[in-house]
Amino acid sequence: MVHERVRPGHVGGEDNTSIYTGQTAVGTYDPGTRLDRGGNALLGGDEPTTMPQLMTQGATVFNNVCANCHQRDGKGLPGSFPPLAKSDFLMADKTRAIGVVMHGLQGPVRVNGQTFNSVMPDFGLSDAQIASALTYVRNSFGNQGEMVTVAEVAAVRAGGKKPASALALAGGTATGRARRK
Ligand code: HEC
Repeated sequence: MVHERVRPGHVGGEDNTSIYTGQTAVGTYDPGTRLDRGGNALLGGDEPTTMPQLMTQGATVFNNVCANCHQRDGKGLPGSFPPLAKSDFLMADKTRAIGVVMHGLQGPVRVNGQTFNSVMPDFGLSDAQIASALTYVRNSFGNQGEMVTVAEVAAVRAGGKKPASALALAGGTATGRARRK
């Protein structure tokens, strides 16, 4: 017996893209849901070891996380978010900077002669994400510094979880004006 029947749902002609866009998902990009801990693909999954790898992953972490506050150009927002561009605080002490990104920061902090007194939360980033983000910000916006390795971040993590308050960290500010008025 020979079957000869019209396939249901099949019509000829060109694709009507006003009905079907060809995309498999249409939605609002929402980085806020992707900040869960771990080496997820969005923020770079593989462990970066070389400077180019750290910079590439760091750009992703920076643009998805840090830029929301510190701005794409790293200049921050006066009165709210301190600059990373040419930040004396950032560049003065690598280990301290690791602590800030790992644990967050609150309380008064002096950056390039300006005092900020706000809160940066702990984002639960992986060691690789912290290392790459810091390598990136320390080598962008006019900054120049050594890379921050995953091993250095791991060493800070192993050193104990001290809540980062700017006062506790203030001992080594680049300006040397850490004392309370
Ligand atoms: C939700 C907003 C927010 C995000 C996102 C954020 N920060 Fe911050 N950051 C702040 C605030 C606010 C301070 C100042 C905290 C204070 O006043 O004690 C700060 C301070 C800092 C400092 C020390 C001061 C300076 O400017 O040198 C560094 C370094 C820093 N952030 C790096 C980062 C990096 C790297 C990321 C991304 C992984 C990041 N921040 C994401 C809000 C944010």
